[in-house]
Amino acid sequence: MPLVPMRILLDHAAENDYGVGAFNVNNMEQIQAIMMAATKTNSPVIVQASRGARSYSNDNYLRHLMLAASELNPQIPMAMHQDHGNSPATCFSAIQQGFTSVMMDGSLEADGKSPATYEYNVEVTKAVVDVAHTLGVTVEGELGCLGGIEDGHGAGLSGDEALAHLTDPEQAADFVEATGCDALAVAIGTSHGAYKFTKKPTGDVLKMDVIEKIHAKLPNCHLVMHGSSSVPKHLMDIINEFGGDMGESYGVPVEQIQRGIKHGVRKINVDTDNRLAITGAIRRVFHETPGKFDPRDYLKPARIAMAEVVEERMVAFGQAGWADKIKAVSLVDMAARYGG
Ligand code: G3H
Ligand code: 13P
Ligand code: ZN
Repeated sequence: MPLVPMRILLDHAAENDYGVGAFNVNNMEQIQAIMMAATKTNSPVIVQASRGARSYSNDNYLRHLMLAASELNPQIPMAMHQDHGNSPATCFSAIQQGFTSVMMDGSLEADGKSPATYEYNVEVTKAVVDVAHTLGVTVEGELGCLGGIEDGHGAGLSGDEALAHLTDPEQAADFVEATGCDALAVAIGTSHGAYKFTKKPTGDVLKMDVIEKIHAKLPNCHLVMHGSSSVPKHLMDIINEFGGDMGESYGVPVEQIQRGIKHGVRKINVDTDNRLAITGAIRRVFHETPGKFDPRDYLKPARIAMAEVVEERMVAFGQAGWADKIKAVSLVDMAARYGG
């Protein structure tokens, strides 16, 4: 099956009340891990690349790896998504590279750090929608800002400042109407990376009620949860057991994500959990068999460890079992649906 527009996957998920994990990739092993889990569980997949991933791996490598994944797994509907596009130019270059979906994250300015004005966000998101839809490409927007981040994309907000940047349900309805975006990423107290919460999050820091309010206002909009790694203790423990040094931390419990899925969440972004699984597996090989030096000796277990996490999430989000029930739609047909 050729790569499909992400909208197809989200529409199907909405019709059948499940969520789809969107897993970040930077290299071949991560893409293979996702496809291993998808074929095992018969799941549709969203594979996403950040700007950092695109510059790390080079667009040409990424494009060919994604095409290889879809060629080798024709039964799996797969969308290739730009994660956190910081400007229309980034989104347009992703579309040129064959991405079937882009995120225009206008919640932050082009530096990927400073919170932007609402007007700026509407303007850049609409500019991307206007072009992307004529080509059948899906657009995800973001309203509100995620919490802090150690590095990479994010405003570094915490405490009251972070609370002030949660998504406002009224404004969300206005934003979707004004931009025509297909999916909306919402800020509900999560953040990127391993250090999200200092204890298991309760409703005062992880605002699932905000999702419920947004869904009540926008029942037909596909909602997206970023920063949705669960930061499992057993993965942190493996890293620490084999020479790592990671502090105590808590992520987004899977049951809270499942609650979100009952209220319109259709795309769930997971990167950190896979990074933890890969790092733990590699550390274990280095520690237990220090004489090994063939990269395959540690990349193979790393790939398996990531595939296990992805498989668990695919089952928990409810996307398992649906791949062969989704009909492929081409970008050209999708453009026609948008009226292009
Ligand atoms: O946006 C956050 C994702 O985990 C991607 O991270 O920008 O370091 O590739 P990155
Ligand atoms: P995590 O860091 O929680 O995995 O979030 C990833 C993400 O939101 C990518 O956009
Ligand atoms: Zn994100």
